Amino acid sequence: MKKDLKMEELVNICKQYGFIFQGSEIYGGLANTWDYGPLGTRLKNNIKDSWRNYFIRKRRNAYEIDADILMNPKVWEASGHISSFSDPLVDCKECKTRHRADNLIDNFNPDAHADGMSKQQMNEYIKNNKIPCPKCGKSNFTEIRDFNLMFETNRGVIKDDKSIVYLRPENAQGEYVNYLNVKRTTRSPLPFAIGQIGKAFRNEITPGNFTFRTIEFEQMEYQIFCTPGKDEEIYEYFKEYAKKYFISLGIPENKLRFHDHEKLAHYAKKACDIEYLFPFGWGEINGTHNRTDFDLTQHQKFSGESMMYMNPDNNEKYIPYIIESTVGADRLTLAILFNSYFQEELENGDVREVMRFSPKLAPYKVAILPLIKKVHAQKAQELFEILTNYFDVSYDDAGSIGKRYRRQDIYGTPFCITVDNDTLEKNTVTIRNRDTMKQETINIDEIKNFIENKL
Ligand code: GAP
Repeated sequence: MKKDLKMEELVNICKQYGFIFQGSEIYGGLANTWDYGPLGTRLKNNIKDSWRNYFIRKRRNAYEIDADILMNPKVWEASGHISSFSDPLVDCKECKTRHRADNLIDNFNPDAHADGMSKQQMNEYIKNNKIPCPKCGKSNFTEIRDFNLMFETNRGVIKDDKSIVYLRPENAQGEYVNYLNVKRTTRSPLPFAIGQIGKAFRNEITPGNFTFRTIEFEQMEYQIFCTPGKDEEIYEYFKEYAKKYFISLGIPENKLRFHDHEKLAHYAKKACDIEYLFPFGWGEINGTHNRTDFDLTQHQKFSGESMMYMNPDNNEKYIPYIIESTVGADRLTLAILFNSYFQEELENGDVREVMRFSPKLAPYKVAILPLIKKVHAQKAQELFEILTNYFDVSYDDAGSIGKRYRRQDIYGTPFCITVDNDTLEKNTVTIRNRDTMKQETINIDEIKNFIENKL
């Protein structure tokens, strides 16, 4: 049965089994930072591979790059992040806590839609409605101030204005500044796409909801460079394309919805999120943005390099439009964890917990379980060495076979192979299916094909 976990329950499961740990835990942690453990790292890597496969490998004229996190600071002047990438913050004059004004309003009245309000309207709404401080309950806030979300650091030995560099707040700019390089080296006509998976950093002050909102996170961003006039059609196509991606990972359609933005980021003409229904409500996991020619025009202006494209069919020249489809790797991993968790009561009354990951996302595809450690270890090790040539394999010889099945269930391992006396005598093994719990006996030589077919 599907069990909808509360956030704290999932946090505990992640910690107990090794999906995700609190960052710097032995020092009491650091707010909004999390470390992926042995299972979580595999799960997230498989999610990133699935994105790479769907958005890059399966599409013609789609190229992946790996740009540096630190970029020339002029990039962020050109992109508008230095002047406009900020949150509207207020301080409570009573208890000195800091809050996002739009969150205060939306939590007070979800129909108020703070994202459609100006700064002055938000100030007035907070005052007129005497919105209380979530910490102390009083309503005595400062006026809204803009707080830039970019992390600054310094390069070189002298710390002055010239030494400031920023940790990138989005991957996209790495793709834009490489537009000319990719166009030249791939000789691709429009439309073509540049994708990138990588870390981004934002000085978020709002509470995180586990890995949903963190200060360091990973984005899987995809930019389609296209002819102006074709942008609307491509925008609509990629909204649906992203939704189909999530469904292909096993997320049911009724847990997903589109949310068109009323208030747009400084670069966007149109923006639509795909939201997943988390236990705390609907939360964005993807964004499709029509960024027009804003970014390339700005980079042309600030760098002096021409971003013009010449259409080979009619020699027309223009700056390409960009449609962006972006997915948060950590938010998607969180959605997959919630979505995969099931609890089932067994005939003997025990409850089994299962992560029903889509097999392509499962941290391990197969577990090898020698029935009796002393007797079956050698054969099990041989099998492990063969199967690791093809699959991600876990090896577990601790505890009863029942306990080992339970452990692999919560790891989400689709197949468990038991090595026993029959393996030594008849060259057969028992394969158990995670979802049906049915067991089949097959010859060792058939294992690879058997698993490949089922996966
Ligand atoms: N390049 C466009 C861009 O950065 P965004 O909507 O600000 O757009 C894209 O971010 C995606 O990155 C979001 O859909 C979300 O999944 C993820 N994301 C954004 N901020 C995040 C944060 N603080 N923690 C975790 N993921 C975040």
